[in-house]
Amino acid sequence: MEAHLHMWLNLLVRWSHLIVGIAWIGASFYFNWLENHLNRQDQAEGTAGDLWAVHGGGFYYLKKFAGTPGELPPTLHWFKWEAYTTWISGMAMLIIVFYWNAETYMLNPNVTGITPVLAVTIGIGSLLASWVFYDVLCGSPISRFEWLTGLMILAWFVILAWSLSTWLSDRAAYIHVGAAIGTVMVANVFRVIIPGQKDLVNAVTENRKPDPSKGLKALQRSRHNNYFTLPVLFIMISSHYPATYGHAYNWLVLIVFSLAAVAIRHYFNIRHLPDFKVWPLILAGLLLAGLIIATAPAPRPSASQAGEPITVVTIGEAHAIILHRCVSCHAAQPGFEGFTAAPLGVELDSQQKLLQHRERVYQVVAMSRTMPLGNLTRMTEAERNTIANWYQASR
Ligand code: HEC
Repeated sequence: MEAHLHMWLNLLVRWSHLIVGIAWIGASFYFNWLENHLNRQDQAEGTAGDLWAVHGGGFYYLKKFAGTPGELPPTLHWFKWEAYTTWISGMAMLIIVFYWNAETYMLNPNVTGITPVLAVTIGIGSLLASWVFYDVLCGSPISRFEWLTGLMILAWFVILAWSLSTWLSDRAAYIHVGAAIGTVMVANVFRVIIPGQKDLVNAVTENRKPDPSKGLKALQRSRHNNYFTLPVLFIMISSHYPATYGHAYNWLVLIVFSLAAVAIRHYFNIRHLPDFKVWPLILAGLLLAGLIIATAPAPRPSASQAGEPITVVTIGEAHAIILHRCVSCHAAQPGFEGFTAAPLGVELDSQQKLLQHRERVYQVVAMSRTMPLGNLTRMTEAERNTIANWYQASR
């Protein structure tokens, strides 16, 4: 019963996280688009630009003020709860999926001496440390040089991705890099962008000039958030792709993919400019192509090529291994604590089902080696080879 409720909690919180995340990123994309498409020609005094749009059966007319308007309307809309609720529901996901079952999901099977409590502490610490580093960097004289600031942020996340992937499980490392970037983004909204906007609003009501330094800071943080968006979205879906988080250099895969994502975002930021360039898109294409090649599975010499006697592995032998190492989780009614149904619907409790899933089984056992989860059931190298030999002969 407890596991069943846990599953529902997981589903409902994940669902909410997705909804508020879409609302946040959607609003941010929309305002970015607005800013880039405002008509700025021949505007009246006090108007920075305007724009016409048609949507959902009506015409909209939007106008952006140059500076502040003379007075404020009774209702002024803010966009901040989308960001806050995305972070709150994201933290809840971290707890429900990773911290609740830290023994299963946080620990790296190749590292001894890290207890579940320590792993969770490292995880939470990585979020806090990322914000402190980033915030200090943005307030330092370095932040006057945009490229240098960007490089320092990159260096931080390279170090973070590398160290987390050495200490924690693959998936925990990935998700914490994503959560760290997300935390920086939300803290930017909470600590800098919204206070900047509050100052703007107060300036209008108090009939004074807004503090320009607050506006500049908010602009800097908004621009960073804009570039963070696409890497975070990649990391959030990466757990479905063992070739990324399960790669021997998974931290490097994360970084290269993120660089491609930043380049794609940059292309969309400059696309409307008269002298825009396509090189960011080409660069992103090259980086992604490089990743596709680098993550390709190495061809395995078959037993006959390696000069070894060909051992014929029967499905009975292969399935005996699966029964021993996998079925505690991958059955309709798993025996493994905390599981109520076969993960991702992959049931392996009969030879028939093993045949049906052999492609995926081969992938996770011999290629990405992401199963058994955290190698909790201690599958041996010899067993992985036996499964690979059976798969190759069975095709
Ligand atoms: C401790 C429980 C556990 C054990 C033992 C385990 N798995 Fe899994 N398996 C999982 C979980 C959890 C997922 C879902 C991961 C996710 O959400 O992406 C999974 C996912 C999978 C998938 C789907 C991967 C995908 O993304 O398509 C396959 C295939 C798989 N396991 C095969 C195996 C095989 C083969 C073994 C034995 C060698 C095994 N598993 C042992 C828990 C386990």
